[in-house]
Amino acid sequence: MSSERNDSLDSADHRSGDHGSGDREPLDREPRVIGSRASDEDARLEKTLRPHCVADFVGQERIVEQLLLAIEAARGRGEALDHVLLYGPPGLGKTTLAHIIAHEMGVGLHMTAGPVLERRGDLAGILTNLEKGDVLFIDEIHRTNRIVEECLYPAMEDFLIDIVVDQGAHGRSIQIPLQPFTLVGATTRTGMLTSPLRDRFPITHRLQFYSLEEMIRIVTRSAGVLGVEIDAEGAREIAQRSRRTPRVGNRLLARARDYAQVRADGAITAEVARAAMEMLQVDPLGLDDSDRLLLRTLIEMFDGGPVGLKSLSVAISEDPETVEEVFEPFLIQIGFLNRTSQGRVATRRAWEHLGIAPSGAGGHAPQAGDLFE
Ligand SMILES: Nc1ncnc2c1ncn2[C@@H]1O[C@H](COP(=O)(O)OP(=O)(O)OP(=O)(O)O)[C@@H](O)[C@H]1O
Ligand SMILES: [Mg+2]
Repeated sequence: MSSERNDSLDSADHRSGDHGSGDREPLDREPRVIGSRASDEDARLEKTLRPHCVADFVGQERIVEQLLLAIEAARGRGEALDHVLLYGPPGLGKTTLAHIIAHEMGVGLHMTAGPVLERRGDLAGILTNLEKGDVLFIDEIHRTNRIVEECLYPAMEDFLIDIVVDQGAHGRSIQIPLQPFTLVGATTRTGMLTSPLRDRFPITHRLQFYSLEEMIRIVTRSAGVLGVEIDAEGAREIAQRSRRTPRVGNRLLARARDYAQVRADGAITAEVARAAMEMLQVDPLGLDDSDRLLLRTLIEMFDGGPVGLKSLSVAISEDPETVEEVFEPFLIQIGFLNRTSQGRVATRRAWEHLGIAPSGAGGHAPQAGDLFE
């Protein structure tokens, strides 16, 4: 079943509300080493590791090919690239692609985020500062409020913005022309975009999870950038546990580097990587304690489901948005969890992985490699 359709079914009600806690880890928990959302530490790491040109960007070949074609065509015409909407789970490369688009277009990149644009003036200030052809990146565009969003429509379509000059009863607005620009919007939840906004993006791409081979290339490249020695098997051990997500791979690499430096001779071999991952309690499929708690709760408390998102979230003391956006995409991806119209259901593979036998027969844990089949 497509997770997208469920996204919109389950989430239609949180669009306009402030679901602030969704961005943060609960206070009493350590940030998860395999969590796909960015932490402050990631911000530093990502600055170092983020590829800026297309040659260093691994995978997503179809998206890259189509973007490069559109970029070449736009440059040939001397126009701004059409607006681009990028969506997909956290940490797969949306922000990175925005950098690459600006780099390949040879234009400036301005970055902001939906929740930051509180008033029309915030947006107007940014838009009027854009130079011809520049890229404006709006992260979490689904969290832009209605008023600001409505200002975006004429800006995207006609490169015009309405500015209110007199407030109050005699309020009037004037239209100011903008330089042609490219809006790159990023969202983890396309189901929460309004259709007028979605329809204004001529180019839309959904980022995919990465293959094992791609993750190995990413981890190996990042090790090179960080100047840490890693062998092929060491890179594979980390890649296998990285939940097919570059952000997670880079983070696990950084932890393995620390381990190698303190407990070994600095090089990341298979053995060093495995020991480091064991210390972090990340299992060969890339699941951590929180994932196992969710699955165990689903299986033991709710008999494998179906159970509603809210009940499940309460049972593991997480907020539903985090469960839906951070835990579930990967568990669905590896076939451990299904979203059905009745609720969440643990699959047979999940029972097996936890060693709980639904029918009394002993289960076996799948091998790490199964994940990438
Ligand atoms: N295709 C890739 N090749 C190499 N490295 C990548 C790739 N995609 C992502 N990365 C790395 O992973 C990190 C996270 O990627 P990025 O910040 O672009 O994710 P995102 O999709 O914007 O996540 P979020 O939804 O949390 O904003 C980047 O710093 C970059 O180093
Ligand atoms: Mg991002």
